[in-house]
Amino acid sequence: MAPTMFLLLLALCAVSFNQKFAHSERVSQAQRVSGKQRGEACVCPFNSSAWVFPTLKYERVQGAVEGCEEAIENQENQVMLSSERLPQMQALLQNLSARLEPYLYLRKAGLHSALWLSTLGQELKKLEGDISLLHSQGESKETKTLSAEASQLRIDVEKMYHFDIINMKTIKEKLRYLKNRAESCRSFPKDFHGKYSHCTTKGLISNISSPVVTKISPFGKSLISGSWGKQAAQGSSRDRESYWVQPLVNANNWGNTLRLYPSYEKFMASAGHRDVTFAPTHTHKDANQGPNGVLYGDAFYYHCYHTADVCRYNLTSGTVARVTLPGDVGFNNKFPYCYYDCRPYSDVDLEADETGVWAIYATMGSHGNLVVSRLEWDGAALNVTHTWETHVFKKAVSNAFVACGVLYATRYTDESKEEVFYAFDTGTGVEDHALALPLEKVAKGAASVSYNPVDRQIYMYNDGYLLAYQAVF
Ligand SMILES: *[C@@H]1O[C@H](CO)[C@@H](O)[C@H](O)[C@H]1NC(C)=O
Ligand SMILES: *[C@@H]1O[C@H](CO)[C@@H](O)[C@H](O)[C@H]1NC(C)=O
Ligand SMILES: *[C@@H]1O[C@H](CO)[C@@H](O)[C@H](O)[C@H]1NC(C)=O
Ligand SMILES: *[C@@H]1O[C@H](CO)[C@@H](O)[C@H](O)[C@H]1NC(C)=O
Ligand SMILES: *[C@@H]1O[C@H](CO)[C@@H](O)[C@H](O)[C@H]1NC(C)=O
Repeated sequence: MAPTMFLLLLALCAVSFNQKFAHSERVSQAQRVSGKQRGEACVCPFNSSAWVFPTLKYERVQGAVEGCEEAIENQENQVMLSSERLPQMQALLQNLSARLEPYLYLRKAGLHSALWLSTLGQELKKLEGDISLLHSQGESKETKTLSAEASQLRIDVEKMYHFDIINMKTIKEKLRYLKNRAESCRSFPKDFHGKYSHCTTKGLISNISSPVVTKISPFGKSLISGSWGKQAAQGSSRDRESYWVQPLVNANNWGNTLRLYPSYEKFMASAGHRDVTFAPTHTHKDANQGPNGVLYGDAFYYHCYHTADVCRYNLTSGTVARVTLPGDVGFNNKFPYCYYDCRPYSDVDLEADETGVWAIYATMGSHGNLVVSRLEWDGAALNVTHTWETHVFKKAVSNAFVACGVLYATRYTDESKEEVFYAFDTGTGVEDHALALPLEKVAKGAASVSYNPVDRQIYMYNDGYLLAYQAVF
């Protein structure tokens, strides 16, 4: 059952792509005819070449669905995908690709589009039938949701067909949603759920304590930007260097040193530290830019100078590995955290949680909305394994972090409070805009806010103050 379901998911995606491209034909025509028309929302300053058939995206979704094989094997609640079923699934995927080809041709030939919508409507009807069949064979929450989605999509399309309305926004949103769903179904670390019961039993963070640690930065109050925290990998051999502070020593924007403390007591006493220099100068390609670092296991992860790259500094070998984030990533103050006050160069933010290391950023493709990627170190290279797009403008949040696979975003309330107001669950793609979890602070600016999965505390670099809070699930 499961493979069929993922296929249907792919089918939905495929249908959305078709539909999207049908619209691009129309919209580009509308642009030409109406010239400077700017009245009704989404038609206007639209560059239609962005809407050519998204072969790459389609391939990515297809790849994601194929990747589900792994996930299904790892998840107890899902039907094991036997090796005989796999070739079948692949054949179906190929079939779908083949069915997309004529549409590509149609587009190139400049033919369009009423025909399109009508065909689309029929396909959706069939899809709905397939899903309800699936549903009757084995009812689950997932099939229920999918079935409801398919009917809704069909109703939308029928409406468009009748009234000749093109709603690009809806279709784009649908596409984003389906992409996220496909991404979520790919495998996570196997032991994630068993090991961190607070993640599965309680769900979202429900409250945040008053600060449990308040300390002036050992570098003084004048260095107002940077990050700090505690070793974020459980049982790391680096536990003896458990607390760290990383100030941006050059113009509060760039840094190249990391201060490590062997224990909480030493950290509080500002004693017994070791300083590590991970780049020869503040403008070296391995220097770090913006407040964003995280110490995870044997390595310090951060945003590298003037690039869309994430750097990983191995504390033992002193070597730097890097990976370029996917998409047209905003850096050098293109998409910094900006709510109330912009925090210079905070375009790419590194975080850790129970499942590993994450990068939070924004791309042109996401229109500046928050994007979150999961990173993995495979022993030789740093890789981006998963990517989700959210619906929250990065410049409209003051900071963000990840806990239990859920992205949280904060905003400025006033000089003494920050607030977690948004959550995005990478496991389900569900968003929650209604959170209101206050964080008390000492100074105005929150340069970095990070969650630590070992002690479940939230660490804030609050201008020159270092604060920590207990997260309650
Ligand atoms: C539209 O976007 C493409 C790349 O996506 C670019 O090459 C082209 O110049 C753009 N056209 C306009 C009119 O902005
Ligand atoms: C492939 O698609 C065609 C319709 O284009 C259909 O008749 C055929 O049954 C499909 N094959 C499989 C294996 O689903
Ligand atoms: C949440 O935490 C705050 C600060 O510790 C506390 O005053 C409040 O009572 C807590 N609220 C709930 C619902 O536990
Ligand atoms: C760091 O480098 C050392 C020495 O090259 C190597 O043995 C170790 O595996 C590396 N650690 C990580 C986590 O990459
Ligand atoms: C990670 O990236 C490297 C280099 O791009 C590649 O050789 C390697 O296979 C990737 N590892 C995984 C687990 O995808």
